[in-house]
Amino acid sequence: MASSASSCVLAAVLLVLAATASPAAGQKETRLRVFWHDVVSGPNSTVAQVAQAPTSNTSSTGFGTVLVIDDPLTDGPNLTTSRLVGRAQGMYVAAGKDTLSLMMAMNFVFVDGDYNGSSLAIFGPNPAERAVREMPVVGGTGVFRFARGYCQARTRWFNATTGDATVEYKIHLRHD
Ligand SMILES: *[C@@H]1O[C@H](CO)[C@@H](O)[C@H](O)[C@H]1NC(C)=O
Ligand SMILES: *[C@@H]1O[C@H](CO)[C@@H](O)[C@H](O)[C@H]1NC(C)=O
Ligand SMILES: *[C@@H]1O[C@H](CO)[C@@H](O)[C@H](O)[C@H]1NC(C)=O
Ligand SMILES: *[C@@H]1O[C@H](CO)[C@@H](O)[C@H](O)[C@H]1NC(C)=O
Ligand SMILES: *[C@@H]1O[C@H](CO)[C@@H](O)[C@H](O)[C@H]1NC(C)=O
Repeated sequence: MASSASSCVLAAVLLVLAATASPAAGQKETRLRVFWHDVVSGPNSTVAQVAQAPTSNTSSTGFGTVLVIDDPLTDGPNLTTSRLVGRAQGMYVAAGKDTLSLMMAMNFVFVDGDYNGSSLAIFGPNPAERAVREMPVVGGTGVFRFARGYCQARTRWFNATTGDATVEYKIHLRHD
């Protein structure tokens, strides 16, 4: 009697664990990877600085700077040779007073491939000097309706002279 009761409890606990570890019924799980290109320099720049703090004391971290982006997203690391799959449209704000820490607020708007016409909303902290930065995916449209998840960003290429950068975003989602 006691042992069958405890195995019932164990089964219930396992069910609860299984439920929290996998997507809700009917939800899909998607992993994708894109390369995000911040083109700061040159005639085809995709970054516009629209504001900065009035004091000069904050220059080491750029605290208070606001930049609007329309960055290409490609399926491979090379902007010239890889396929364009979307655009990262939004902004980032230098939100760290003493450390380089960006607040990212952007939509990944897909324009090609399986996700053409769909988008993901990413909002979170980006301490850009760390090797891996994790940001939440807070929603989505199209095939990504009701999306929740996270992405991990890793800088793959950076030109310290121009500020141009290529960052790999690995995205893990649950959505309808
Ligand atoms: C800028 O974009 C135009 C139009 O897409 C292209 O013809 C030109 O080669 C680009 N220039 C650079 C420096 O990438
Ligand atoms: C800049 O920082 C220094 C040291 O913290 C401080 O003494 C000075 O008043 C600050 N200047 C301005 C313009 O905020
Ligand atoms: C991208 O590919 C082009 C053409 O092969 C090459 O010239 C360029 O150096 C590559 N860029 C990067 C950042 O690797
Ligand atoms: C992406 O979707 C748009 C709008 O539906 C369409 O005009 C375009 O041709 C599509 N692009 C590709 C590469 O399928
Ligand atoms: C960085 O950009 C500068 C200016 O365009 C260029 O001379 C230099 O070769 C670039 N460095 C790298 C590592 O791509």
